[in-house]
Amino acid sequence: MNLLSVTAEIFPLVKTGGLADFAGSLPKALKPHGIRTRSLVPGYRSVTETLDEATPVACYDNLFGESATLLAGRAEGLELFVLDAPGFFHRSGGPYTDKYGKDYPDNWKRFAAFSLVAAQIGRGVVQHWRPDIVHAHDWHAALSLVYLKYASDAQVPRVLTVHNMAFQGQFPAHLFSELGLPDEAYSIDCLEYYGDLGYLKGGLQAADAVTVVSPTYAREIMSPTFGMGLEGVMNARHDDVVGIVNGIDVDVWDPSTDPHIEHQYSSRTLLRRLPNRESLLELFGLPQTSGPVFASINRLTWQKGMDLLAAVVDEIVAMDGRLIVHGNGDADIEQAFQNAARRFPQHIAMKLGYEEYIAHKIHAGADAMLVPSRFEPCGLTQLYALRYGCVPIVARTGGLSETIIDANVAALQAQAATGIQFSPVDAHGLRLALRRALKLFRHRRIWEGLQQQGMKTDSSWHDSAAKYAELYGGLTRADMRLAG
Ligand code: ADP
Ligand code: GLC
Repeated sequence: MNLLSVTAEIFPLVKTGGLADFAGSLPKALKPHGIRTRSLVPGYRSVTETLDEATPVACYDNLFGESATLLAGRAEGLELFVLDAPGFFHRSGGPYTDKYGKDYPDNWKRFAAFSLVAAQIGRGVVQHWRPDIVHAHDWHAALSLVYLKYASDAQVPRVLTVHNMAFQGQFPAHLFSELGLPDEAYSIDCLEYYGDLGYLKGGLQAADAVTVVSPTYAREIMSPTFGMGLEGVMNARHDDVVGIVNGIDVDVWDPSTDPHIEHQYSSRTLLRRLPNRESLLELFGLPQTSGPVFASINRLTWQKGMDLLAAVVDEIVAMDGRLIVHGNGDADIEQAFQNAARRFPQHIAMKLGYEEYIAHKIHAGADAMLVPSRFEPCGLTQLYALRYGCVPIVARTGGLSETIIDANVAALQAQAATGIQFSPVDAHGLRLALRRALKLFRHRRIWEGLQQQGMKTDSSWHDSAAKYAELYGGLTRADMRLAG
């Protein structure tokens, strides 16, 4: 089976968050199921510069006003199609925003162009390679399914994955006429969204099947609190929605081979984590301690509850703990952590930025990983933490609630616990969680039990890749029945 995965990010070529990790690791896990994935990604500089054996497979003189070439090639073990359109994708900022963090004003066009090309691949524009399934991710790719739906010659089954309902690709309605779609596509059953254009909404309506990155989040987004305006659509599509929890690349995230850490270790050699912990504190300029070292590697945003964490740093100071924060995001939250680090230089340190190797070092050295998200579709950080024996302390929401087993009395007795969950997700809830963590941390045997249990957890793609394979198989069989 040939699968076209349409994604705006792919690890290790371009990454702003978990979508990249997902798109970079699922193809490998699908191979044993006989599924060959090619991923279509925008030709950002970091992508075009790494592409090997690039072969042009289609050319466009005027793709939404830009010239572009569709390239086929490989990079870092990934089979790729790359939309090389420098006017759209060679920019000085990030994939979606300029260097000041503002959305590019032509995002509607950049990702419409990207999606149109995806749809053309779905319709067989590339000689000798035709997908049996088109699988689009998030709003950036969602329009590809709309283009396919309205193409009379396209029969390929369409799958959409929702990684985060908070990002919907909403644009003014007057742009509809630029998209080259028939008038009927601007209706409540497709792109019309509260009087605007909704790319994610259109994709949700045009998909044959919708997957959501955890079963809990799939349920949550049926309600107004988490559905963010799309709960009606989600309910209407209820029968075609399936929640599949994300896996991780257990080769990239393996403490026994990780090249980014000084001392490799496994669950049998946990003591070897200690020097990693020491060098982590050194790296962040903090004194050594016998208290707990908490960390958070995160986008500093409201979604991630990082304002809540900034509000309770005194709790960590009071227990002579340490807090290490690595991330960037909203200016006021960045400022809050900078202030905290200035007030408590012996206890709190933060490095603004986004460095993959620092993330690895933190997982390998910190005692506990804080993930206080207000909502979390799946979350990968807590899965990496499990694998590295860094005990996750998570908000009870979305994928966090189903991937971490709370250290309540029963779970501890059954030796099943892998971390701490807290609810309600507010500053007080987080404070209580920190206190629970301290108690457990002081009982070395219990804490080590949590670490061991976490490291035993299978967070690989094994089970979830099988679920995707089953979904694709069902769709292609249904498709063949229709065609027959
Ligand atoms: P989201 O995609 O919502 O940001 P996930 O937990 O699914 O959340 O994925 C986040 C990914 O981004 C993880 O791989 C995490 O390690 C990485 N990450 C987040 N912030 C940073 C940072 N500042 N530096 C390095 N990696 C980061
Ligand atoms: C989104 C979500 C995150 C999820 C990731 C990969 O960025 O916020 O929870 O893990 O996508 O699916």
